[in-house]
Amino acid sequence: MARYSEEVIQNVIESNDIVDVISGYVSLKKAGNSYKGKCPFHNEKTPSFSVSPDKQLYHCFGCGVGGNVITFMMEIENISFLEALELLADRVGITLPKNQSENNEKYQKKEQFYEINRNLANYYFLNLKHNHEAMAYINHRGINQDTIMTFGIGYALNAWRSAYSFFKKKGISNETLVENGIVIKNDQQKYYDRFRNRIMIPILNSRGKIIGFGGRILKDDEHGPKYLNSPDSIIFSKGTELFNLNNAKKNINSDSFIIVEGYMDVIALYQFGIKNVVAALGTAFTMYHAKLLSRYVKEIILCFDGDSAGEKATQRAIQVLSSSSLSIKVIRLDTTEDPDSFIRKYGIEKYKTKIKNAMTAIEYQLMFEKRNISLKTNDGKLKYIDHAIQIIRQSSSSAERELYSKLVAKESGVSAKVIYQMIMNHQQQNIIPELKSVIAQENNVPKAYLQAQESIIMDLLGQKILISDLSCNEDYYSEGFLRNVFISIKDFWNNSQKISLPLIAGQLDKSDQEKLTALVMNYSENKNIDLKENERILRLFYNISEIRRIKIKLKTIESTSPEVSGLLNQLMALKKQVDDVQEVPNG
Ligand code: GTP
Ligand code: MN
Repeated sequence: MARYSEEVIQNVIESNDIVDVISGYVSLKKAGNSYKGKCPFHNEKTPSFSVSPDKQLYHCFGCGVGGNVITFMMEIENISFLEALELLADRVGITLPKNQSENNEKYQKKEQFYEINRNLANYYFLNLKHNHEAMAYINHRGINQDTIMTFGIGYALNAWRSAYSFFKKKGISNETLVENGIVIKNDQQKYYDRFRNRIMIPILNSRGKIIGFGGRILKDDEHGPKYLNSPDSIIFSKGTELFNLNNAKKNINSDSFIIVEGYMDVIALYQFGIKNVVAALGTAFTMYHAKLLSRYVKEIILCFDGDSAGEKATQRAIQVLSSSSLSIKVIRLDTTEDPDSFIRKYGIEKYKTKIKNAMTAIEYQLMFEKRNISLKTNDGKLKYIDHAIQIIRQSSSSAERELYSKLVAKESGVSAKVIYQMIMNHQQQNIIPELKSVIAQENNVPKAYLQAQESIIMDLLGQKILISDLSCNEDYYSEGFLRNVFISIKDFWNNSQKISLPLIAGQLDKSDQEKLTALVMNYSENKNIDLKENERILRLFYNISEIRRIKIKLKTIESTSPEVSGLLNQLMALKKQVDDVQEVPNG
């Protein structure tokens, strides 16, 4: 992603004092070693937002946000990493090395396309006001004036060359208009408008640039498709963009996004105050969409149309999302409804209740299976159990697995223990990461283990110890986030022989960054114990978890398996090591 070198980024961070920068947005008061103020990212009465001049990090003890000066600018201005970097460089008069892409043709062309689309959206917007038929349609759909403004809704005239003439007067070439999808060239080499007599909905990217349009016909019985979208272009790719993401992401108080199918669903929900809603652009939901969304939220609520196409789309989206870190919920509507028609028929409060009662993805899939399989026969029960196991196995949470094992046990009459075992047995190849996550998620990491890991990380960041002093690598960390920080420190050290806390924090993803700033800002030095002792603790608990892993593995393989003797030897060796380590007296 970074088009600039580490040195350039470091220079920008070091030249922009975080207290100065944040003071431009938040009124800060000195309190001990740091500055305090009211968090700009959530509503609060008493200040819990803290900025550290020594560490050059910020952290909110209330809502958990945190990061370095670049992260702050990205979050508060809703801009990309590069934009934040450029803004901060500007602020202190650093000239960033000319980045080639700004001069190249492609960049210029993209800028031109954004500008053309902005002009076109304005043109459509003005058309709408003056066209009775189009306004009548908008009114009939219950779209109010505010919503027209928010989404910049417009109207493409019922004419062959209105947009074309509009741009010809501005001197835009035919080729450009064709490439941007605004006009089409026919077999007789004549140019005509792609969008005619349609309600026009601008599609914005997450930076707020208009990248394309969706156009709806006024009467469903008219010929042509109900919706016509701009074709993909150098600025528009349907598989990676989401409608309304630009607005939804401003709603940072929400931890989830609702995903619906249609433009009109987004527009209706938004008008009724549910703003954290997005839609794919008439294409299937993709892994890119999932990745994009995981930058902003932890949870996705799928609410597709009630018909069977919506059902299929829901199943598909669950498959796509299941390989992401997002947690998934599902709202289903009656077969004839979509979110737009639902709220207009039953009201927004009923819809909010639906959101509150949304099913988990597993509940939804089990329900779907039960609808198609009869549980009255043994054959049906076995088939259901087989499908259910595959569904439950998608969850990596042992609590969830146990919960749903019990549920399926109740429904099928087979004991929960057997079902749970079947879920685990299927996972033999994957047993190592599986167990690591089980161990981590059981939340029973002993305090001493956690403290030892934190202590080493803090000592590394404070440069009290160096990577080369250590004998335990990242495998010894039970906490995913601490392991990531460790790897990040190691990489950073190997690349630059330096440690910079704000830069290392900046390399982590959002959630790890928040956890790290929380740790750093909450950490009290006197928790430190010496490195030897910390590593002894790391080894001890690592070995214990390895023992547990091997024991479970031994249970799941045949006693005649050739692996058994090797595993037993490993087990003995580990047990001996644990005994040895435990004998060492405490610090
Ligand atoms: P309304 O009928 O106006 O309420 O539409 P909707 O927003 O409820 O959309 P619908 O559920 O019918 O379709 C979902 C989405 O699929 C739309 O928002 C479009 O993005 C896309 N879509 C629907 N119909 C067509 C079509 O005929 N052609 C193309 N290319 N896309 C379509
Ligand atoms: Mn609809």
